Amino acid sequence: MRIGCVKEIKNNEFRVGMTPDNAKSYVNAGHEVLVEVGAGLGSGFTDEEYVAAGAKMIDSAKEVWDSVEMMVKVKEPLPEEYPLFHEGLILYTYLHLAADRPQTDALLNSKVKGVAYETLIERNGSIPLLAPMSQIAGRLSIQEGAKYLEKLYGGEGVLLAGVPGTPKANVVILGGGSVGTNACKIAVGMGANVTIMDINLQRLAYLDDIFGARIQTLVSTDANIEKAVKEADLVIGSVLIPGKSAPKIFKKKYLKEMKPGAVFVDVAVDQGGCGETTKVTYHDDPVFIVDGVVHYCVGNMPGAVPRTSTIALTNATLSYGLQIANKGLEQACKDNDVIYSAINTYDGKLTCKNVADSYNEEYTDPRSLI
Ligand SMILES: NC(=O)c1ccc[n+]([C@@H]2O[C@H](COP(=O)([O-])OP(=O)(O)OC[C@H]3O[C@@H](n4cnc5c(N)ncnc54)[C@H](O)[C@@H]3O)[C@@H](O)[C@H]2O)c1
Repeated sequence: MRIGCVKEIKNNEFRVGMTPDNAKSYVNAGHEVLVEVGAGLGSGFTDEEYVAAGAKMIDSAKEVWDSVEMMVKVKEPLPEEYPLFHEGLILYTYLHLAADRPQTDALLNSKVKGVAYETLIERNGSIPLLAPMSQIAGRLSIQEGAKYLEKLYGGEGVLLAGVPGTPKANVVILGGGSVGTNACKIAVGMGANVTIMDINLQRLAYLDDIFGARIQTLVSTDANIEKAVKEADLVIGSVLIPGKSAPKIFKKKYLKEMKPGAVFVDVAVDQGGCGETTKVTYHDDPVFIVDGVVHYCVGNMPGAVPRTSTIALTNATLSYGLQIANKGLEQACKDNDVIYSAINTYDGKLTCKNVADSYNEEYTDPRSLI
């Protein structure tokens, strides 16, 4: 198969869909790989590395789009890319169609086979192509929180770990899923006092098993949250109720009771945020202060560390990508029916139920087409 990879054109997006190592895996499997010149630079991968891996560098994105049967990307295509779609193209990337009618229509009208990372669901219910981004955001949340606790940024001037003879910082993590667990790992590693809350008792039992006496687990109730955040130096918002807006469990009234210069990192901002005072921010101006509490609410945190994010994402995408390239999308689905869950558009039909429901449109089960 001819497989392409173009430079991402979304504002401040430095990840790339394929590393040189990935290109080599596709080439070794007998495929031809076309990469747009400069596509990997934002993640620190040079054109020479792609060439050494066996890829062919192409000057224009249009030429790559026009030539390939499968395109491997990171972000959803932007309107300027819609005219580059062609019938039968396999587009393997994050799509997020439920909130993007123009893109959905463009994919349907041009009969692109849209394979979305975010809807690929494994048999055990995990979402393997989303998980790496939650791991990164969770770990980064403590790193960013530690930075904004510095006085220069409006923070209270506290070192997370403290030093002998001084108090350690108190970190409160709301939600103990992928993001929360990864935040917990880093906060514990840095030597902070960590309290983690969840509504799922099994999850709390798991966290208690792996972190033992180094953390405090608590059931997430209004009373427990209010008590914990009063003493907190850093609060991480990492709750999720799949498919719904995040519950607003970090209330505005708590802010006045908190330490001035405490920091709230709302990782759940991409689902509307779990703070009543959350507003989405961007990497170039990531924080604002409400009632003395520094808020960090960046919706695409992994974008701050594109090299790690690219490697983590492509570690997860490569194996499914190879199955699709080696067998063709149709046979790959028949051999591994998990891949059906990722197909959002096929032959002009909407084949993802959640996307179809969000537009009140007819849903077609991809199994009836393939
Ligand atoms: N900002 C970013 O760059 C970024 C990056 C990755 C993920 N995220 C977001 O982070 C959020 C968390 O993702 P995840 O992968 O950890 O999800 P997850 O499903 O693994 O974990 C969410 C946890 O929240 C818990 N929860 C639900 N309601 C709760 C409540 N009222 N109180 C306490 N806990 C509650 C759930 O029981 C679950 O354990 C999601 O909104 C995700 O989209 C944001």
